[in-house]
Amino acid sequence: MEVIMAKSAGFCFGVKRAVESVYEQIETGKKIYTFGPIIHNEEVVKDLEEKGVQVIENMDELGRITEGTVIIRSHGVSKEVYELIDKQGLECVDATCPFVKRIHRIVEKESGEGKKIIIIGNPGHPEVEGIRGWAVTETIVMESEKEVEDFLNDKNNGVLKNEELCIVSQTTFNYNKFKDLVEIFSKRGYNVSVVNTICNATEERQTEAKQIASQVQTMIVIGGTHSSNTRKLYEICKKECENTHFIQTLDDLHLELLKAASPVGITAGASTPNNIIEEVQNYVRINF
Ligand code: F3S
Repeated sequence: MEVIMAKSAGFCFGVKRAVESVYEQIETGKKIYTFGPIIHNEEVVKDLEEKGVQVIENMDELGRITEGTVIIRSHGVSKEVYELIDKQGLECVDATCPFVKRIHRIVEKESGEGKKIIIIGNPGHPEVEGIRGWAVTETIVMESEKEVEDFLNDKNNGVLKNEELCIVSQTTFNYNKFKDLVEIFSKRGYNVSVVNTICNATEERQTEAKQIASQVQTMIVIGGTHSSNTRKLYEICKKECENTHFIQTLDDLHLELLKAASPVGITAGASTPNNIIEEVQNYVRINF
């Protein structure tokens, strides 16, 4: 069976670095915590749990811990979290992705100079919550044209035409959509400085998946069922290749792929570990 493997499948650089740092810290023999699950992958989180790593869900829980090491995941956290880790006398291993860290620095600096911060992204996402926690002035989060229009039309929000605004983006936001939203501000004559903080790891993975799916007979997308970026990959591939399968692990593959036709393309979402990708790849090469 001919297999075409996507080079960009699986962990992006930031997630890889964060997961590796947890495994490294386990070796120290200290009590290890992660602030939130290190990635959206049940297998990995379960494996870490078995090795004694505990997930801290919120500030209250963090406030009760007095010993050990806390690892910050790639999404990053607000300044308050670092302060509490420090106050509790805990060790901190910061695995915030450098691309996210850059946004924290921009937001801290620009808000410190008095600019109002606009974040284009999903307000409920932990990365966005973390970014908000670095501003010294008000931050506003928006993700749709309607939200931008409503905000600009609302006479009570107090944004003046000559007031300086700084617009940043959640790293995984769609670039074209970001451009469209920014344009609304510029067209209306607002005084904006825009920093494109989108990371292209997601886009690269999607472009490659699309390209592979368009040239194979069977396409396999590996990732967690709750992973929105994997679902997106699946949709993109399904459009190109009708015979596209969404699996979590090798166990889901057996029955699904009886109709497999060569060549087979394989890609995986951002939180799929390498060993699962390898397993699937080897199995397909040997068994079909
Ligand atoms: Fe990954 Fe960092 Fe980009 S976590 S998606 S490399 S912003």
